[in-house]
Amino acid sequence: MDESTEMRPTAQVLPHELPASLREAGLTNWIREPLDDAVDRRRRIIMPPAAAVMGTPASACQGALLAEARHPDTAFMMGDNPALPKMPERPALKDFFLLRFGPIPRTHLLQSARVARENGLGEEVIMACLLHDIAIAGLLSANHGYWGAQMVAPYVDAEVAWAIEKHEALRYFPDESVGYSYPQAYVDYFGADYTPPDYIRREHEAARKHRWYMTSRLVTINDIYSFDPRVAVDFEEFEDVVGRNFRQPEEGLGFDGSPVAHMWRTMIWPNNFL
Ligand SMILES: [Fe+2]
Ligand SMILES: [Fe+2]
Repeated sequence: MDESTEMRPTAQVLPHELPASLREAGLTNWIREPLDDAVDRRRRIIMPPAAAVMGTPASACQGALLAEARHPDTAFMMGDNPALPKMPERPALKDFFLLRFGPIPRTHLLQSARVARENGLGEEVIMACLLHDIAIAGLLSANHGYWGAQMVAPYVDAEVAWAIEKHEALRYFPDESVGYSYPQAYVDYFGADYTPPDYIRREHEAARKHRWYMTSRLVTINDIYSFDPRVAVDFEEFEDVVGRNFRQPEEGLGFDGSPVAHMWRTMIWPNNFL
């Protein structure tokens, strides 16, 4: 075998015929055929996390994916997925914005922060706007206000984390006294007849009485409900605010031993099997 053949792993591995159940569930993309950058030159299987597939046809495919992984030339994805940009050893907040968050949530967060700054608001509001949907951008959408607040709590002032958490409930309830109406986008997303569950109503009632109510309310006011994905905002625009208001751990987010480090590691290696 000459060297050029040796360097072409795709030619060395016979592609498997995917089980019909996987093809039907649209899971063919969850199996990464060996490419030149494949670890060990093996196919890598990405097992979709339960929270992503529960209630969908894809949840029925766990057995088929497990069976695929038993092929000797196949393994589950662990560590760096070559389809994602490699993160630095000590990642900072900016690295997650640039290397992990998709363009839509990234732009949404940056535009919200820019509007808050243009409205002359304080740095705690600008920070809360910059981070308010960080869970949607990198982790989970359901309960995103709560997840997002936890992710950043060790690194920001308590008021910022509180505002992020409470925007989850406040966004559903108008406060005309400060010019906040129910977003038209929510009528489109949830239907005109949607009513938030009781626990969200209780959260809203309690948050209204809190001394930091307006900080969180300002997140909902500066939230961009119909934003223009063509308007580019650079993270650099907020580097000064982040420098003053985000206590970046020296070891890197994910490796500082904080109670939320695992959440950041999950975004670094989102496809780890276990
Ligand atoms: Fe949100
Ligand atoms: Fe938002």
